Amino acid sequence: MIELLLTGISQLVTAPGLGPRRGSAMGLLNITRNAAVAIDAGRIAWLGPRNEWSGQAKQTIDLGGCAVVPGLVDPHTHAVWAGDRLADFEARSGGATYEEILAAGGGIWHTIRQTADKTSEEMAALAFPRIEALVRSGATTIEVKSGYGYSPEAELRMLEAIKLLATQTQARLVPTLLVHICPEERSAREEYRERICSELIPEAARRGLAVAVDIFVEQHAWSADDAAIILECARSHGLGIKLHTEQFQRVGGLELGLRLGALSIDHLEVCSPEQCRAVAASSTVAVILPGVSLHLGLAAAPGRALIDAGAAVAVGTDLNPGSSPVFSTAAAMALAVRLNGLTPQEALTAATVNAAAALNLPEAGRLEVGLPADLLVLRSSDWRDLPYTLGENVVKEVWISGRRQNV
Ligand code: NIG
Ligand code: FE
Repeated sequence: MIELLLTGISQLVTAPGLGPRRGSAMGLLNITRNAAVAIDAGRIAWLGPRNEWSGQAKQTIDLGGCAVVPGLVDPHTHAVWAGDRLADFEARSGGATYEEILAAGGGIWHTIRQTADKTSEEMAALAFPRIEALVRSGATTIEVKSGYGYSPEAELRMLEAIKLLATQTQARLVPTLLVHICPEERSAREEYRERICSELIPEAARRGLAVAVDIFVEQHAWSADDAAIILECARSHGLGIKLHTEQFQRVGGLELGLRLGALSIDHLEVCSPEQCRAVAASSTVAVILPGVSLHLGLAAAPGRALIDAGAAVAVGTDLNPGSSPVFSTAAAMALAVRLNGLTPQEALTAATVNAAAALNLPEAGRLEVGLPADLLVLRSSDWRDLPYTLGENVVKEVWISGRRQNV
């Protein structure tokens, strides 16, 4: 007998099929009305119209006419940091730019100074409430990056913090080693790059502390040439690759990512129409981060143009203290409709299956027989309230592996 049957589902919504949805397929969702979901051993055992269920369940829970969607996947966060960036926030409100603050040794450098000397236990304790906030907002799978360590030892401590966090939350955490910023002086930069390739990446891979390596390719960060060496090293250790790129300038990061078969290229605020077509012709997922556009007042990434060109687009919070203090994965999805021109349907696809593809997780972000029962019960009978609502949480219940979470 099946363990649990959820009934009273006004709409059961999921993107169909395996793998990322590209272009116009991003707008196609399967919606089953008056649905039920049977759950056994943490996985979906059956789903469909309630009146077609003929099995037996030990327990039935009537959800009372709420819509159900897949648990969201947040493919890009920097949830581990110490200190704050409130002074930057105030300085930017007075006209200073993010890049100026970074070039003057503040911004990310400030957060590194606050974070790098912390123990992994201290880091995890600071990050835990942020992870819980993301879960409350609907995220059941969350990527978390290192990147505020700036030495192999401190980056490894950050990755250990993520490992510790993963034992404290039911959410599935996906650890990424972020090679964030670099010394300006050439020989110091080469020395750091060498340590990343000979110590940090091999150790992170050996200890299973990261599944991918991300790198910030930008005028005030790594060059595409340095990034190529670091990402080739990551690949040779069996790790996935990702890039923070085309955020402020085009310095070759996007093309490098496509050439190396990156899982995702993230940001893309300054991505040109030609680059949109190049992304569409690749297997790489374009991750857009509307919280950054909102918080920094930057032009938003061309989500609409990317989808129209045929690309697979995903959306994430980019939760971090400097460029995106967005603690809600549902809010990132809602902002993608307003700022990046996605339809509500495309936004749900971007926040579920496509975000899962950016993490190389084909089991996440869909509701289908055999997959983990990661789902959200909404405070609405219409799923569109999720990308519609701003400033209130539409997520009533978060279920991970068939268990309702206390969040
Ligand atoms: O995704 N741009 C680079 N890295 C982060 C911001 C990190 C920070 O400002 O602390 C980003 O925007
Ligand atoms: Fe980021």
